Amino acid sequence: MNLKIAVLAGDGIGPEVVLQAMKALNATALMFDHEFIFEEALIGAAAIDKTGKPLPEQTLNLCLNTEAVLFGAIGDLKYDNDPEAKIRPEQGLFQLRNALGLFANSKSIKPYEGLLSSSPLKKEIIEGTDFLIYRELSGGIYFDEKTLSEDGKVATDLCKYTEEQILRIAHLAFKAAQKRNNIVTLIDKANVLETSRLWRKVVTEVSKEYPSVELNYLFVDNAAKQIVAKPKQFDVILIENLFGDILSEVASVITGSIGMLASSSIGASHTLFEPVHGTFHQAKGKNIANPFASILSAALLLEHFGLVKEAKKIHEAVEKAIALKVVTTDLNPESKFGTNEVGDFVSNFILNKQDLLYF
Ligand code: IPM
Repeated sequence: MNLKIAVLAGDGIGPEVVLQAMKALNATALMFDHEFIFEEALIGAAAIDKTGKPLPEQTLNLCLNTEAVLFGAIGDLKYDNDPEAKIRPEQGLFQLRNALGLFANSKSIKPYEGLLSSSPLKKEIIEGTDFLIYRELSGGIYFDEKTLSEDGKVATDLCKYTEEQILRIAHLAFKAAQKRNNIVTLIDKANVLETSRLWRKVVTEVSKEYPSVELNYLFVDNAAKQIVAKPKQFDVILIENLFGDILSEVASVITGSIGMLASSSIGASHTLFEPVHGTFHQAKGKNIANPFASILSAALLLEHFGLVKEAKKIHEAVEKAIALKVVTTDLNPESKFGTNEVGDFVSNFILNKQDLLYF
């Protein structure tokens, strides 16, 4: 297969972890006879520094002309600590999600056997957990009108959803549940928010088209507790944008480290694959960031384009690395391995270079 992949490494540890994902993809291309062409472009704080814009036209055009984007991380402390800043790195990602029509972000919460003791949660609670989160990505409080009064003392963020936005992701979630354990849990705050009540109405209607799927409802506050207390009850979680952002991080605890969690963002004709972790500036350039989430994002990319064997090989490589403790210090504080060594291990495993796998 020939595939052009736009690589937007972004800020913080983005470039160093994305590099490991590219190494894994290159190894896969070599072993399975594919051609992956990477085109790198700027986004986020790195793009503001060079061009003044968080999403330069060149980057946008590249992404509009590719089916797949491999994304790193976005953000910079200098903007986080400056509430007055009008141009912000994160705007680059929002503009890109909009322009590419990415409306559904999905991630799989399933701890690796070898990492069950890396989670602060008890092994018996998390063992056997296996659920998907479908987070709506195009609407809610992220995107609508934002105001700040002239005296700077009153601010508002409008939370808006349309039936159309809810329908399209709801269908994806129900279809996913049909291939799994037939349970969708809609997480909302329908006792307080009008948008949540619209979600309940629309999703309940959609559920009638999927009679084999059980639909459960959970308030987001209760859900935050249930995810860490009884995660095995979930099969497919359907959730709006902001709540989904927050609960994804909560759920990442189950996987042992947020450095394990990959996600895909899907639109009608574009896709973007990214690790769930952020820029982790404290680790930038130190060769300590966990590259697995980025490498596993590459596996999601392959799977999306039907390269299932290839994706499986990456998963096997990650499993092997974990089994041999070739991991970064977030997973094993005594580890002597860094981002690059873990990435090398994964690509050498894919290349079947057995002699290079033991250190
Ligand atoms: C994510 C991130 C972004 C979001 C940030 C960087 C704005 O947390 O991709 O989940 O909140 O959507």
